[in-house]
Amino acid sequence: MILDIVGRFASDVPEPPGSMYIRPTHVGTEPAIGKAAAPTATSLQYILLSPVGDYFSGGDTTLRLLLEENGARCAAHMGMIKSGGNYASALNPIMRAKQDVKADQVLFCPNGDVQETGAANFLLIDGDEVITKALDESFLHGVTRDSILTLARDMGMKVSERELTVEELLERAAKPGCEAALSGTAAVLTPVGTLIHNGQDYKVGNGGVGATTVKLRQALNAIQWGQAEDKHGWLTKV
Ligand SMILES: Cc1ncc(COP(=O)(O)O)c(C=O)c1O
Repeated sequence: MILDIVGRFASDVPEPPGSMYIRPTHVGTEPAIGKAAAPTATSLQYILLSPVGDYFSGGDTTLRLLLEENGARCAAHMGMIKSGGNYASALNPIMRAKQDVKADQVLFCPNGDVQETGAANFLLIDGDEVITKALDESFLHGVTRDSILTLARDMGMKVSERELTVEELLERAAKPGCEAALSGTAAVLTPVGTLIHNGQDYKVGNGGVGATTVKLRQALNAIQWGQAEDKHGWLTKV
């Protein structure tokens, strides 16, 4: 279905850095009350396409993230599923964080476990090491996360997929040269400059855009835009 629809609307794909966002969607359609507690017997699957601009304004902009240790983005067993309800349950803490501490996003860290934001994965870049939570069912397994980790390995960096606590994050982030970033289809790799914890701002490194973040972002964009060799077979011709 994806190949078919993208092929049909290929001439509407914007020039880079714009892109065509592809959103496969699956909804239950059984016309019965009471389906809140039982699965639907019929469903409809469709693919939404939407031309989008460049989400990343570039320049010196970095994100401010509120570290949320008490709430979770969604129910623990639902994190790896791309379900609409997960986004709804994250909206209230995100709106509060924007209003109360001028955060751009919330980094959900239930009981100190650094997971992800409302719509992107989180990576800590400390020198030549990338640290991010190992895959489990509590968070979304982003394809961009996977691509960036692969590119980091290709560049000879060490990739550590493991538990990261808020305590370790704040300790490492304070070091000069440390970087943090959000990965996602829309975000690609967007630098994080400030972490907000218990009412206090903590700069990540010098608070600016990190060189490694830019390098990894450019490497992924170059493959997506056909400017670099697609060594891993990520591109599909339609
Ligand atoms: C909750 C959440 N985490 C992570 C991601 C990043 O995933 P991907 O890189 O596949 O876009 C997304 C993107 O949609 C998301 O909504």
